[in-house]
Amino acid sequence: MKQPCVLVTGGAGYIGSHTTVELVAAGFDVVIADNLSNSELSAVDGVRRITGREIPFVELDCCDRAAMTRLFDQYDFDAVIHFAASKAVGESVREPLRYYRNNLTSFMNVVELMQATGRPNIVFSSSCTVYGEPDEQPVTERSPRKPATSPYGNTKQMCEDILLDTVAADKSLRGIALRYFNPIGAHPSGLIGELPRGVPQNLVPYITQTAAGIRECLAVFGDDYPTPDGSCIRDYIDVVDLARAHVAAIRRMIDGRCRERYEVFNIGTGRGVSVLELVRRFELVNGLKLNYRIAGRREGDIVAIWADPTRANEELGWHAERPLDETLASAWRWQRHLSGLD
Ligand code: NAD
Ligand code: WQD
Repeated sequence: MKQPCVLVTGGAGYIGSHTTVELVAAGFDVVIADNLSNSELSAVDGVRRITGREIPFVELDCCDRAAMTRLFDQYDFDAVIHFAASKAVGESVREPLRYYRNNLTSFMNVVELMQATGRPNIVFSSSCTVYGEPDEQPVTERSPRKPATSPYGNTKQMCEDILLDTVAADKSLRGIALRYFNPIGAHPSGLIGELPRGVPQNLVPYITQTAAGIRECLAVFGDDYPTPDGSCIRDYIDVVDLARAHVAAIRRMIDGRCRERYEVFNIGTGRGVSVLELVRRFELVNGLKLNYRIAGRREGDIVAIWADPTRANEELGWHAERPLDETLASAWRWQRHLSGLD
């Protein structure tokens, strides 16, 4: 019998590569499509080494309608996970049109081609950024979405809305939006992980690059917030756990277990961790001292946000499992691999 097959757009990227590994481990065939605008072929090689499978890779831009049409004609897949998007918040403020074009056009191409070719199931990469600064913690899927504070965040809200409206209009389509909190860490093999371009904007890659001596000093953005230690609080979700949430979402759709044809799930641990806690944990777990200093607040930062993952726990049967210490060890292992320190 043919194994179910999933098209993973953006599958050469950080979360897409880890998700491909977990899909293959769960018995799915996968086709990866990526334009390598924020990734490298080495990630696909890493996925192939971990899985021992010659996973097909198609280099294409999801905004290129003709190339996408050929992809949909060529491969026999049952579901799509759409990761392909630009994701740098600051860059999206400087270059909004590039973000709107890339994130919206690629997404609409995928959904339209799914409709045209009778593929019913899509998982969309959304983000906790849609909640903005929440009034209550933890946030549930019923917490209000706040006005987006960046073009990037706006594209996530818009894609969610496009999916909701399209599913409402087309009874043959099913969509699941996964709202990721802060994905961190790397595959335990040390063969795939995050590949930040230039100076990292996100906390953990900045920490690991500082530990590796690539950056001189980590700036902790603010210690005067109304939190127990004054630094911001986030819900750091291990990337392998996050990858498994996609497998659970795909299974739910393919097995016909969706309660609604459009569903939203928070994917987080349910635990808030402060920046300073994370730094100290990183030092402890990896037995090193990190050069860091307290700096001013970063404009636009949310004070605190963490997930209520109950819906994902109960409906998807998914739980965050990997202990934070293991995740932080994996992030450092990956950095050492990248920096040739082993
Ligand atoms: P990433 O940049 O590592 O992966 C995205 C991949 O998509 C890259 O390989 C890139 O080359 C590719 N891509 C971008 N535009 C494309 C296009 N037009 N056609 C084909 N490929 C294209 O990012 P990631 O961290 O793996 O994020 C994956 C998804 O998850 C994105 O949609 C992102 O917005 C979302 N997300 C990420 C985070 C996070 O903190 N990493 C949090 C919430 C949501
Ligand atoms: C985490 C904490 C910083 C860097 C972003 C996007 C969001 C989502 C996840 C995609 C904050 C602090 C950081 C540094 C620091 N992505 N920090 N020094 O801002 O929660 O979310 O990524 O959807 O949309 O906005 O993540 O990793 O940038 O920051 O002190 O050098 O670390 O102030 O409190 P953030 P982050």
